[in-house]
Amino acid sequence: MAQLRRVADEDRPALYEICLRTGNVGGDARRLYRHPDLLGHIYVGAYVELAPKCCLVVEDEGGVGGYVVGVCDTRAFEEACASSWWPPLQRRYPLSLATASPAERARLRQLHAPQLTPAALSGSYPAHLHINLLPRLQRQGWGRRLIDRFRDLAAEQGAKALHLIVADENTRACAFYRRYGFRELGRQQGAVAFGITTA
Ligand SMILES: CC(C)(COP(=O)(O)OP(=O)(O)OC[C@H]1O[C@@H](n2cnc3c(N)ncnc32)[C@H](O)[C@@H]1OP(=O)(O)O)[C@@H](O)C(=O)NCCC(=O)NCCS
Repeated sequence: MAQLRRVADEDRPALYEICLRTGNVGGDARRLYRHPDLLGHIYVGAYVELAPKCCLVVEDEGGVGGYVVGVCDTRAFEEACASSWWPPLQRRYPLSLATASPAERARLRQLHAPQLTPAALSGSYPAHLHINLLPRLQRQGWGRRLIDRFRDLAAEQGAKALHLIVADENTRACAFYRRYGFRELGRQQGAVAFGITTA
């Protein structure tokens, strides 16, 4: 029987693996990456390091198979990443690194020039999250439960609303967010922003 719990530091490798296995528009991205931890460094690592109270995992007999990671204050998080998270990674993964695909090259550029969330978005929807489940845990209500719990945590920490950004070609995730009750906030360069209140 699967269970939901707070993240622990030892979960990090499992979360990186899930991130990679769901990192190609919701599907497996392993063949696209020569550096298998690159996606995890961008979408998981800093959250577990800087905001573990907002990170939850789903674990079953097969191990940790899903997560939500996020923060309650996107601006403060981006400032903390700029000072302590990105610089060592930029030294470890120089832009000259050989990559396996255009997708991996784009992530490398992102690591060297992280895009800041527009002030209008982080002002009105200060929390944000990333959610991923391995196929064996999908479509059983875990996505809904993870977001329910994340919203409670964000509300407890004073965030009134949260946003997330998803590739518009990830139509299954977009359908899930709409079904859950997220409102579409805007579209830009192949990405959709969704928002919802926490209470
Ligand atoms: C997208 C994802 C988080 C959804 O979580 P999930 O556990 O599969 O979804 P749930 O079972 O909690 O579904 C909740 C509701 O959304 C609906 N839903 C889920 N996926 C859907 C889909 N592809 N199309 C339409 N509705 C969908 C469910 O029917 C359910 O509705 P109900 O509660 O009214 O019955 C999960 O499938 C996943 O991790 N996918 C791969 C990685 C990914 O794309 N992550 C998002 C990156 S931004």
